[in-house]
Amino acid sequence: EAPAPLKVMISGAPASGKGTQCRMIADKYGLVHISTGDLLRAEVSSGTEIGKKAKEYMDNGKLVPDQVVTDMVVSRLSQPDVQERGWLLDGYPRSFSQAQSLESFNIRPDIFIVLQVPDDIVIDRCVGRRLDPVTGKIYHVKNFPSESEEVSSRLITRSDDTFEKVKSRLETYKQNFETILPTYSDLLNQINGNRQVEVVFQEIDSLLQKICENTSANKLTK
Ligand code: AP5
Repeated sequence: EAPAPLKVMISGAPASGKGTQCRMIADKYGLVHISTGDLLRAEVSSGTEIGKKAKEYMDNGKLVPDQVVTDMVVSRLSQPDVQERGWLLDGYPRSFSQAQSLESFNIRPDIFIVLQVPDDIVIDRCVGRRLDPVTGKIYHVKNFPSESEEVSSRLITRSDDTFEKVKSRLETYKQNFETILPTYSDLLNQINGNRQVEVVFQEIDSLLQKICENTSANKLTK
């Protein structure tokens, strides 16, 4: 019997590198990457009711109301691909009430990873971030410029990546982060995210490897 699939939560300030690391984790471990920011941006760009509600909060760097985000996440988590392949939750939970909702459904991760990056660095990362709407790849004007003219001509900037909006997002993050910590204190792993992408990934990778080894060892002794 195959071991139970991995369940991973990743948290951190705006532009701490969650999306970048999640792509690498999902590639290697086959987990379903669920980013509430990406899900909400998709709702906004398709002009749905959820998108209409969410847009104003996102533009102001505030949290979208808990119920809206929680319904979206819980329904995604119940899909068969998630049950089969495991999940990687990026940017959720972000408030005490969101963490409590997951607890009430008995949804707990194997590990809670927090990427730590100083404020001045995250501001610079946000302002320089560019996205490829075709591949979903994340770039940065200085740190990770695009590979070709063709790609660079189609890159877009997120509307909440201005200096003022990033400051407000950072404030929101700081106000809420402490309130979710107690729920996951036994699973908490804080990682220095202010290093090269590959170095950060190596550290996450070795933590995940350990969990996989422990789960298969437990299965064998049962
Ligand atoms: P969301 O999209 O989740 O935004 P965020 O938390 O602000 O995080 P980012 O997507 O900005 O950054 P990231 O950590 O993924 O960094 P990335 O890898 O891109 O949420 C947006 C909004 O949606 C929220 O403000 C809120 O309104 C709403 N929302 C979302 N979830 C919600 C929830 N649960 N409840 C309520 N509302 C919610 O990297 C950033 C840049 O840095 C890139 O340019 C990248 O190339 C570069 N970079 C990455 N790693 C490195 C490195 N190691 N070294 C140098 N550069 C790097």
